[in-house]
Amino acid sequence: MYKIVSKTTLNNTTDKMEIYAPFVAKNAKPGHFIILRVDKAGERIPLTITEHTDETVTIIYQKLGYTTSQLGQKIVGDTVEDFVGPLGQEVEIKEASTLLAVAGGVGAAPLYPQLQAYHAQGTKVDLVIGAKQQRYLILLDDYKSICNKVYVCTDDGSQGTKGFVTDFLKQHLKNHTYDHSIAIGPLIMMKHVVSLHKTFNLSTDVSLNPIMIDGTGMCGNCRVSIGDKTYFACIDGPDFPGEKINFDELISRQSFYTEEEHMCQLEELVSNDKK
Ligand code: NAD
Ligand code: FES
Repeated sequence: MYKIVSKTTLNNTTDKMEIYAPFVAKNAKPGHFIILRVDKAGERIPLTITEHTDETVTIIYQKLGYTTSQLGQKIVGDTVEDFVGPLGQEVEIKEASTLLAVAGGVGAAPLYPQLQAYHAQGTKVDLVIGAKQQRYLILLDDYKSICNKVYVCTDDGSQGTKGFVTDFLKQHLKNHTYDHSIAIGPLIMMKHVVSLHKTFNLSTDVSLNPIMIDGTGMCGNCRVSIGDKTYFACIDGPDFPGEKINFDELISRQSFYTEEEHMCQLEELVSNDKK
């Protein structure tokens, strides 16, 4: 059993949770994820490690499905049944004097340890961070302390520039150049960012965490075609160079489970109603 040592509500859909897990913490590197089970009967869910100390691991999750909603009901002092990791491949921190990072919504969470590592090696990092509305922007203060510049975009214009991150980038890249970039957010965002960056000859790494289900190499959902090769995001990734990824294949596979997620949320609402 793994004890919850702190919990913060970031907005109405997103929590940050710190869990006592010394073995995972000791071995955690940027790019790694964990798999947790809330209770013995629970499903396994993969979540990227956002931060760690010597003894604790911090995760950030959106309460959109059954398990993440169950996790959201836990309080400090409660435990989760399983917390396995670190899993996946440590991300390669490239030699770069300048880096452009792009975060979309809750994708700002897995991006954080990577930018910390770039900042620590002396890379000058500019971040473009986008969210639907101001209240969905997360980790802004943390990012301001490690980035050279933080550019904020919101879909509704409630903070920063109005529009998608790509609307901002189209203008920004006309006057700024970078050695490398990372984009983490919804698949559709990563697809458009990679495609735009290609037109500016800018390489882009992405994280394919959103297509993972069991995180063990067994369900096959995280298969990804990169050029003419097939990889498993949970075993070979979750971070990959974005240029040759077939995003359309991933987007259509992800939408396959939308109905199940919707049913989970309905069941959750009905069971809450009965309480
Ligand atoms: P969201 O839908 O609010 O989008 C966040 C931002 O992405 C938007 O504000 C916009 O700037 C950009 N964006 C969205 N659609 C775009 C488009 N068509 N073109 C260009 N830019 C676009 O995101 P959210 O609801 O906070 O995030 C949830 C998504 O993040 C889920 O799809 C989840 O799977 C994904 N996610 C990804 C990772 C990862 O490792 N890549 C990790 C956690 C969550
Ligand atoms: Fe199931 Fe990778 S998430 S095989």
